[in-house]
Amino acid sequence: MKNIVILISGRGSNMEAIVRAGIPGARIAAVISNRPDAGGLSIARGFGIETVALDHKLFAGRDEFDAALAAEIDRFAPDLVVLAGYMRILTDGFVRRYMGRMLNIHPSLLPCFTGLHTHRRAIEAGVKVAGTTVHFVTPELDSGPIVAQAVVPVLPGDDEEALAARVLKQEHRIYPQAVRWFVEERLIVENGRVTLRDAQSGPEGWCVPPVDA
Ligand code: GRF
Repeated sequence: MKNIVILISGRGSNMEAIVRAGIPGARIAAVISNRPDAGGLSIARGFGIETVALDHKLFAGRDEFDAALAAEIDRFAPDLVVLAGYMRILTDGFVRRYMGRMLNIHPSLLPCFTGLHTHRRAIEAGVKVAGTTVHFVTPELDSGPIVAQAVVPVLPGDDEEALAARVLKQEHRIYPQAVRWFVEERLIVENGRVTLRDAQSGPEGWCVPPVDA
């Protein structure tokens, strides 16, 4: 059984998708938020999952907070740390501690549109497709070996909200899939690239195919 700790900051819909997936061999050991008012905390409690709220505002700085966060995470002996809408920049020390066993989801087709306001920037840039990326976390923001991506169209008339909703639907599909692959020990990282052990062709393949809008 692999222990998973999920970090959130807000509504926690990706966390919920991972919990609902009921991944064999995975135990969601805890959900931790840096915001005590994160809606995802009560969702997690509803599933009977242990939750921790660690308010970053009560700490002197990033180093102090990340040290306290790591201490909380380590209480659950995680095999995998999942960032699911966790909106804090991580210190290098924190990233190195969990390197190779920490995943993030970002609402763009990385390496395009790292950082914030991805949907607005995608619309402003006039791109015709957008999407989402699950990747291993490395010290550089929103970079790191790419595990899975899904593509959606940007439709005429889309505003940020419409595009975000279309992308989010795909996040809920690929994040549980990526976590499942990790739990099954099928992700091989070599030279900054991820391949899937024993990949089949078709939808089970490591490259998630384009999907309906
Ligand atoms: C998602 O769009 C994720 O890609 C981004 O923040 C959002 C979190 O949503 N990092 P939720 O809290 O999982 O509902």
